[in-house]
Amino acid sequence: WPQTTAWTGGELHLGGVSAVELARVYGTPAYLLDEADFRARARAWLDALPDGDVHYGGKAFLCPEVVRWLDELGLSLDVCTGGEMAVARAGGMPPERVVFHGNNKSPLELRRAVEWGIGCVVVDSFTEIARLAAVAAELGVTQRVMIRVTPGVDPHTHAAIATGGEDSKFGFSLAAGLAARAVEQVAAEPSLELHGLHSHIGSQILELEAFGLAAARMAEFAASTGVTRLDLGGGLGVAYTPGDPTPPTPAELLAVLKKETEGLRLAVEPGRSIAGPSTVALYEVGTVKGRYVSVNGGMSDNPRPAMYGAAYTAALANRRSDAPPSAVTVVGKHCESGDVLVRDLPLPSDLRPGDLLAVPVSGAYQRSMAGNYNHVPRPPVVAVMDGSARAIVRRESEEDLLRLYP
Ligand code: LLP
Repeated sequence: WPQTTAWTGGELHLGGVSAVELARVYGTPAYLLDEADFRARARAWLDALPDGDVHYGGKAFLCPEVVRWLDELGLSLDVCTGGEMAVARAGGMPPERVVFHGNNKSPLELRRAVEWGIGCVVVDSFTEIARLAAVAAELGVTQRVMIRVTPGVDPHTHAAIATGGEDSKFGFSLAAGLAARAVEQVAAEPSLELHGLHSHIGSQILELEAFGLAAARMAEFAASTGVTRLDLGGGLGVAYTPGDPTPPTPAELLAVLKKETEGLRLAVEPGRSIAGPSTVALYEVGTVKGRYVSVNGGMSDNPRPAMYGAAYTAALANRRSDAPPSAVTVVGKHCESGDVLVRDLPLPSDLRPGDLLAVPVSGAYQRSMAGNYNHVPRPPVVAVMDGSARAIVRRESEEDLLRLYP
């Protein structure tokens, strides 16, 4: 639960505001973001890497207000599409503090990035190196780049979010010598400047060994190429349920990375570990039928259980109950059986329509991956701090959806 969580009389309070009150004002489902918690987690990364750069992984959750917080705190930003770049601009992030990722950036996205003055483009293919060099030459600028390297490390996470192995759509293989060829190709382009090397081995990683191995391989490659900057990506995991292992802290991860990379300037790209634990998703119970408790959201606002088999927990958030717990399955309102949010969760047996259920660790890859399946509008993100609340992403309406149809 976020740092400012308090329970009074069984009622959840976040940032000094009651969940019941937030549900009344903003409706449900809603993502409640503890701003103090988010800022503290971002600061922990800065403190762990005072002599390097922290690029927040915008894919975890991004909106202009969050961009303003990051800017203010002194973080940089990792974007991976033109859309994320547009949000970075809208939030006023200085372009030189933005890093542009992606395995298939379009020529137009590259042009917009270079025109904007983006700090660094992380090149991901030979095609892209040539494409970017041409755009930069045409615009008369020297564009800084990093080379995305696949170091061949298995991070022991879900296959869909492992990215650093030999067989990957991302980056240039170190073992096959492609990374070395990429360094040569960048060096041969007068409109490009090699700023550093980049690797990102995956996400929701809870063991430090894989990070250390990737750092060691990258440091060795850096030494052979004379490059002095390494960006070792994001990927630090979080605990979603009380049964999950406690993840390493940013300081613990940085200690491992620094040990392997002496003399090099480091950057990291945490997303989930900053945004995830800061946010609670709030739902209202609509029906209780046998073991199934249906809430007014589901796989459209949290596709992670269906996509990755991700486990969550939930708690009654609007009242105290002394009823004995019984195991329930919390499901959404979508038209398929895979629309499950939490499986086999002990909740008070007097759960009833109108109750509020709160799901912690809902800040990363939920609003950012939310969709409109079944034409369900996406929930708002409400930031709470010091007793006040404001929507930093407003609730989508049916009119918003209908606007797309000619
Ligand atoms: N840098 C790069 C180049 C990345 O691809 C990612 C995440 C990050 C940084 C941030 O990683 P984090 O610290 O958040 O693990 N949708 C999946 C996660 C996909 C991660 C994609 N890349 C999920 O819900 O688990």
